[in-house]
Amino acid sequence: LASTEVDLTSIPVGQIVTVKWRGKPVFIRRRTPEEIKAAQDVDVSSLRDPQADSTRVQKPEWLIVVGICTHLGCIPLGKQGDYDGWFCPCHGSVYDTSGRIRKGPAPRNLDVPPYAFLTDTKVKIG
Ligand code: FES
Repeated sequence: LASTEVDLTSIPVGQIVTVKWRGKPVFIRRRTPEEIKAAQDVDVSSLRDPQADSTRVQKPEWLIVVGICTHLGCIPLGKQGDYDGWFCPCHGSVYDTSGRIRKGPAPRNLDVPPYAFLTDTKVKIG
């Protein structure tokens, strides 16, 4: 399927679900207010791959990223690592609650796939 539609109503605040899009895992994370604040309160110029959180999300509550480590392609583990974002068990890359690389060998932030909100509770990825 070229695109994947996801009903968001079953995702509680603070949870991450993984869906498949074009054979890849995509993480949909319903961020808590604390996670949003942590993502927004970063000095962007200090980042390896400088991107403001606001350029990575359409709605602050919903972070949607491709679940493939930008180092060598492992699948990072959610809500782990020093920034409570993701931790890649393969070589120790650490991502924050915006999916931005913060430590370890990965060169780039987790990719943001193309997506659109069809309604407040339904998103189409791809
Ligand atoms: Fe994730 Fe190497 S593949 S750190």
